[in-house]
Amino acid sequence: MRVLGIETSCDETAASVVTLDGDSVPVIASNIVLSQIEEHAAFGGVVPEIAARAHVEALDGIVEAALADSGVALADIDAIAATAGPGLVGGLIVGLMTAKAIAAAAGKPLIAINHLEGHALTARLTDGLDFPYLLLLVSGGHTQIVAVRDVGDYQRWATTIDDALGEAFDKTAKMLGLPYPGGPNVEKAAATGDATRFAFPRPMKGSAQPDFSFSGLKTAVRQAATAIQPLSEQDVADICASFQAAVADALGDRVARALARFREEFPDKAKPALVVAGGVAANSTIKATLQKQCAEAGFSFVAPPLKLCTDNAAMIAWAGIERLRAGLSQGNGFDFVPRSRWPLDSISAPMIGSGRRGAKA
Ligand code: KG4
Ligand code: ZN
Repeated sequence: MRVLGIETSCDETAASVVTLDGDSVPVIASNIVLSQIEEHAAFGGVVPEIAARAHVEALDGIVEAALADSGVALADIDAIAATAGPGLVGGLIVGLMTAKAIAAAAGKPLIAINHLEGHALTARLTDGLDFPYLLLLVSGGHTQIVAVRDVGDYQRWATTIDDALGEAFDKTAKMLGLPYPGGPNVEKAAATGDATRFAFPRPMKGSAQPDFSFSGLKTAVRQAATAIQPLSEQDVADICASFQAAVADALGDRVARALARFREEFPDKAKPALVVAGGVAANSTIKATLQKQCAEAGFSFVAPPLKLCTDNAAMIAWAGIERLRAGLSQGNGFDFVPRSRWPLDSISAPMIGSGRRGAKA
């Protein structure tokens, strides 16, 4: 199987070819990601109109390069898989329409992929993980814990009731005058800070549901920052370190709950695993906390390489292969209309107040 994947749901223009020969290990034959960070940096976040226009300008060349790099001719591709939601609708339209045009011209099937499914199935591409497993997705637009039971069978166990975690990092950075994207800069500043100086709240800690909340923490950071104007470099470092410690602590508590639930619901699973995905997974304090929680609960901790954890098209091509293989690719292609909101799990009700409202929303 050879699938061309296209991803344009946010501020990365990406195309990739992934191949799978029988039962062997899948191969990422090409994986090209063009980040638009520079185009959005001046605005402190992603501007949807700029993103859509940048996708239009770049996508043809990126697809051509992905095909050329892979050594697979378009004629030998089995299907085109494109992100059809959730995300910024302008970008989704560009990606899906381009995919439809290529598929129609080449006479290939088109598979509309849910971006979250791409993240959810990546660990099977990189680590050959068996179902079921638990996924923690922490990016600029999403903060979710999902039980990944099978291809097309996902159960969202937790989501954020307000901000996404990456969004909380980005807003914290903005308040402290650190450049966009905030996450890496907050982490860098935190390295020289005192994590005990500010006693920030640990949102939702101890709550029976494993859901997340970050807006109260963000307010606490704002209050601390405005109380000490002008902020010295050390103040900024201390706030960042204290914020990061609060986030790691709250996240650890939420994840511990989800691990316990997984044990209850899948008692026969011999080697349960927690997979992390999303840009925030790059944070080493957060990673260390998750590793500790997993070790304590007897879970293995799977963190795919960062470039496959953040937005990319290899995960979309792979989701296409998984759907083809499972016979779930019929009838969802050419008629599919991009969906800015598209929950992975149609059963769990949307959280009040949740959504994609942040820098990457
Ligand atoms: O997955 P991603 O590249 O894009 C989407 O949101 O879809 O995630 C980007 C997010 C941004 O909010 C960024 O600030 C955050 O991930 N991030 C980090 C770190 N690196 C990126 N947050 C905390 N620590 C980091 N080292
Ligand atoms: Zn993503």
